[in-house]
Amino acid sequence: MTNKKPLKDLFFLNAHKLHQPQEARVPGKLFLVGEYAILEPEQLAVIITVDQYLIGRLTPSPVLSKGSFSTTLEGLAPLFYTRHPQTHEIQAKINPSTTADQIRQWQYVIAAVHTVEAVLEEMGRPLMDYQFEFSTDLVSQEGEKYGLGSSGAVTIATVQALLHFYGLEAKDSLTVFKLTALAMLQTDSRGSLADIAASTYGGIVAYQAPDREWLQEHLNEHFSISSLLLEDWPALQIISLQSFPELAILVGWTGSPASTDNLVKKLQDQIQENDDYYQEFLKRARRIVKQFIDAFQHKNLVRITYHYDEYRELLQDLAVHYDLPIVTPKLQALIDIAKDCHFYGKSSGAGGGDCGIALGQASLPTDNLLAEWKAQGIQPLDVSLAKCTDKSIGGNYV
Ligand code: PMV
Ligand code: MG
Repeated sequence: MTNKKPLKDLFFLNAHKLHQPQEARVPGKLFLVGEYAILEPEQLAVIITVDQYLIGRLTPSPVLSKGSFSTTLEGLAPLFYTRHPQTHEIQAKINPSTTADQIRQWQYVIAAVHTVEAVLEEMGRPLMDYQFEFSTDLVSQEGEKYGLGSSGAVTIATVQALLHFYGLEAKDSLTVFKLTALAMLQTDSRGSLADIAASTYGGIVAYQAPDREWLQEHLNEHFSISSLLLEDWPALQIISLQSFPELAILVGWTGSPASTDNLVKKLQDQIQENDDYYQEFLKRARRIVKQFIDAFQHKNLVRITYHYDEYRELLQDLAVHYDLPIVTPKLQALIDIAKDCHFYGKSSGAGGGDCGIALGQASLPTDNLLAEWKAQGIQPLDVSLAKCTDKSIGGNYV
C-alpha cells in the first residue's frame, strides 16, 4: 500500500493517552452568515463557536468484542454493540428492546467509530472495545435544545476520543474535520458540514463548502477513508477569523427548538420549480459573505455590521419568496429590539426558532437590549466565544 506512510504522517503519537479513559469536549456553534447558501459547493459561511460543550467520555469496555453508547440526555436509550468476528465492524446488538429509531439516533456515533477504525486498521492497529457516554451543555435546564448543534458535535467528540484512545493526535484540525465529515456522509445527514468545521476549529470560522456530491461519489465508489483523508477536497477552505475587543456578540434564545431538516427540505422541494431566484440568491449570498469575511479580516466593525444586516435582508427575502418560516415572531422581536438599541440582529442558522445573534459595538450599553429581549421571552445566553484550537489552512477566498 503506497499510502501507508502519508496516513501516519497526519498524526503525532501520544503514548500518554494510549488506552486510557478519554474526555472530548466539543463547543456548540452558531451561524453568523451564509446559512442555506452554504448547502451548495463553493458557497461561504461564517460560524462562531461558544463555550457550551458536548462532552464525550470513553472508557475501555471490560468485555471483549462488546461495548455501549449511552447519554445523560433523557429520552435516548443506550445502545449495545457486538463486534463482527471476521470483519471486526461494530454492529448494533439486536435484541427485543432495540428499535430502528434508536439505532438511527446513534448513527453518528456508529459512523464515527466505523470511520476512525477504518483508518486504524489501515495503520495496522489492533482494535479494542469501548463504552461511550455523552453529556451536554447544549440544552436548557428543561432539556430543550438551544440549536447549537448536537449531531455534528457528537460525531466530532467520538472521532477525537477514539483518536486519543489509540494514542493518536491529529497534527491539524483539518484531519479531524475530514474524518468527521466522512463519518457524517455515511449518515442520513445532508448538512453543509459548516457546523463540523466550526466545532473542530473553535473560535470564529470562515468556511467554503466542498463539493459534497464529489465526496459522496468517491465514498460510494471506492470506499477508502484514508485516500480521501489524504486528498485535497475540491473547493474546501477553512480559515480562522479573529475576534477583536470592539465587537460585541449577543446571543438570544427564542425558547422554541426548530427542525433544520424540515426547513431545508421545504426549500429544496421548491427550488426545483423556481431555480432563477435561487441562483440569484446564491450569487448575492456569496458576495455578501465574502465582503463580511473581508471586513472581519480588517476588523472593520461598520462594514461587518453592514454586511451582516445585508445577509439578514437576503434571508428574509428568501423566506418570503419560498414561504419559509425562517423569521418567527420572536426572532423578529429579537431583530427589532437590537435595532432600537443600535445593534444589528439576525436569525442564526435555519431559523424557525432556536437562537438569534446581535452584533454591535462593545462600548454600547446592553442593559436595555437584554431587558427588552427578556420581556419578549427571549433568553440571553451567557456565552463567550470558544477558544480557537485551529492550525489554519487556506488563504483568501476567490
Ligand atoms: O439551524 P442550524 O444552526 O442547524 O443551521 C442550519 C444551517 C443550514 O445552512 C440551513 C443547513 C446546513 O447544514 O448548513
Ligand atoms: Mg437551528
